[in-house]
Amino acid sequence: MYVVKSPLSDTDLRTVSEALQGALVDLVDLSLVAKQVHWNVVGPRFRSVHLQLDEVVDVARTHSDTVAERASALGVSPDGRASTVAAGSGISAVPAGWVKDSDAVGALVAALGAVITRMRERVGATGDADPVSQDIFIGITADLEKHHWMFQAENA
Ligand SMILES: [Fe+2]
Repeated sequence: MYVVKSPLSDTDLRTVSEALQGALVDLVDLSLVAKQVHWNVVGPRFRSVHLQLDEVVDVARTHSDTVAERASALGVSPDGRASTVAAGSGISAVPAGWVKDSDAVGALVAALGAVITRMRERVGATGDADPVSQDIFIGITADLEKHHWMFQAENA
């Protein structure tokens, strides 16, 4: 269904909408993984890791909304359904059950690393097609890399 007219050409729109949809899926899953670990973390560093994980949830939720609404603004329907997220996320599933604090930190280092790699690919793919969307990906990558640094420092 045609609803919102895009300012981009069809070719550029295809490139950018793929990148935005991929980012949406990764960020929704990141918010879910961080909450799962937030609820299940155990160990002497419980409190600091538990609170730190909610900071990642907030960042992931905020940015998932930004990329979804950027897609809408370009005339592309965003798809944040659970089945779509499960099928397309770049983050490996975390095991069920309690998570030792050092493993929780390791899980977030891995999850953030996976999303950052894919987000940097989106930065590279969208510069010519739509620098406005690229700017969004750059801002998201900076935020994720900050959290990636802090989790790596936690397990050093
Ligand atoms: Fe909580």
